[in-house]
Amino acid sequence: MLLVKNITKIYKLGKVDVHALSRVSFKIESGKMVGLMGKSGSGKTTLIRQLSLIDKPNSGNVIIDNEDVTKISERKRSSLRLNTLGYIFQEYALIPELTALENVYLPAMMLGSGHKEYVIRAKELLTTVGLRRQISHLPKELSGGEQQRVAIARAMINNPKIIFADEPTANLDSLSAKTVMDTLMNLNKKTGVTIVFVSHDPDDKKYADQLIFLKDGKITEDY
Ligand SMILES: Nc1ncnc2c1ncn2[C@@H]1O[C@H](COP(=O)(O)OP(=O)(O)OP(=O)(O)O)[C@@H](O)[C@H]1O
Ligand SMILES: [Mg+2]
Repeated sequence: MLLVKNITKIYKLGKVDVHALSRVSFKIESGKMVGLMGKSGSGKTTLIRQLSLIDKPNSGNVIIDNEDVTKISERKRSSLRLNTLGYIFQEYALIPELTALENVYLPAMMLGSGHKEYVIRAKELLTTVGLRRQISHLPKELSGGEQQRVAIARAMINNPKIIFADEPTANLDSLSAKTVMDTLMNLNKKTGVTIVFVSHDPDDKKYADQLIFLKDGKITEDY
């Protein structure tokens, strides 16, 4: 379970304080697919960065499976990022010199898992996301939607408990966007991994078990 209690995030911009999040609280049950929605500038990226341990709020608590991750050492936060959390970004963030297969197994290699095991698992994951024939392609030899599905497979390689996806379909045409969202939903249903995604497309509401709406850094709806 992911519990967020009264988090506030203030960016310093010269002498100006930008209140990006103001006392935001909510709860996400394990295994759910959750959509963070809201207009541009409402605080979606800021919020997902605090939840996913990429950044730290000025105040408030983020509790993942009964552990307050705002209070632990940077070393432990780093270990959680590699072992327990998965990341998908709008711009895919694949390494251009590595094949699809190598991109997917890289986080497992960093954990020191056995080469044979992670190659097998990476192939299975690429098959799950529909890219069995593209495992040897470089990112530039893949379409945007295919690159994002490689990123989904990579996010899954270390068996995360939670995947965070900030606007995973923002750079895609509507058909590729649908394939990417369907892929995420199928993984959620099949493996029970919790997924938190950001979107400003009202059409994506149908993918979520829970929807959290932000406006000016505050929650306006949560259902
Ligand atoms: N590094 C930063 N320094 C100062 N202000 C920032 C910084 N990052 C974001 N902001 C401000 O915080 C607010 C929330 O930004 P955020 O990026 O979280 O919005 P968003 O909902 O993700 O928007 P979008 O849909 O355009 O991605 C905005 O007013 C933005 O200008
Ligand atoms: Mg954003």
